[in-house]
Amino acid sequence: MGKISLQDLLKKVDDLPALPWVVKRVMELTEDPDSTARDINEVINLDQSMTAKVLRLANSAFYGFPRRISTVTDATIMLGFQTIRSIVIAASVSKLLSQEVEGYALLPGELWKHSQSAAMAARMTARSIKFPKIEVAYTAALLHDLGKVILNSYMRESYEEVIDKVEKEKIPFSQAEEEIIGFNHALVGSKVAENWNLPPELVEAIAFHHSPELAKIDPTLTSIVHVADFICVTMGIGIGADGLLYPLSPQAVNLLGLGEQDIYQLISQLSELLVDQDTF
Ligand SMILES: [Fe+2]
Ligand SMILES: [Fe+2]
Repeated sequence: MGKISLQDLLKKVDDLPALPWVVKRVMELTEDPDSTARDINEVINLDQSMTAKVLRLANSAFYGFPRRISTVTDATIMLGFQTIRSIVIAASVSKLLSQEVEGYALLPGELWKHSQSAAMAARMTARSIKFPKIEVAYTAALLHDLGKVILNSYMRESYEEVIDKVEKEKIPFSQAEEEIIGFNHALVGSKVAENWNLPPELVEAIAFHHSPELAKIDPTLTSIVHVADFICVTMGIGIGADGLLYPLSPQAVNLLGLGEQDIYQLISQLSELLVDQDTF
């Protein structure tokens, strides 16, 4: 199988299901200063499985609320609009990201675990450097490897060839991917995010999570996603083939003002959280 044509790729991107109506509506409501927690509750409650997932995520160890959150209205009041919005996006992509992604050597559930861990690591990193758009960082990291789902079938056939190239030429996985199949999963994922009308800085962070020095709109956001991904790869969380050769960008680390010690700190913070299985 040779390289993918741009046309085939765009068709694949278009074939992916659109974001559900509920998610779009919640995105609009959370942008509107006039909406209330009750408005958000009303929309989410129209979708039973969404309601259940949102409550489960809101009650996960990550947020650490001592008392159980039992309604979406309470969750919205306690967590805030931006957090509810990222939870709704997470709930809507959990199934898509939970499937087996053989082409990247990922068993069922592994990509989801990697995505969620990266999202948490991004939130911690954003918090530690006082980056104001914490929830955008969370969502960008959650979706960063989305392109793998689309490239899966192509990678299945070219897997050996890509791995061979990484090992022989000692180049990063995403570069070998691009040279052999024509595109890397980062760019492909950004095309999906664009189709979903996600904000441009979020699209960019997905596109350049393996090359954060190329970001122009919001280099800090892209660097956060890169570092968060690196942390998960270092910890061995759902890495599959992508973890083979993963260089940490010195520019990204510099831009965030992080030292080696800070990265260790983030790693230990994330491991503590992950001990609690309830997080997923
Ligand atoms: Fe990646
Ligand atoms: Fe990743």
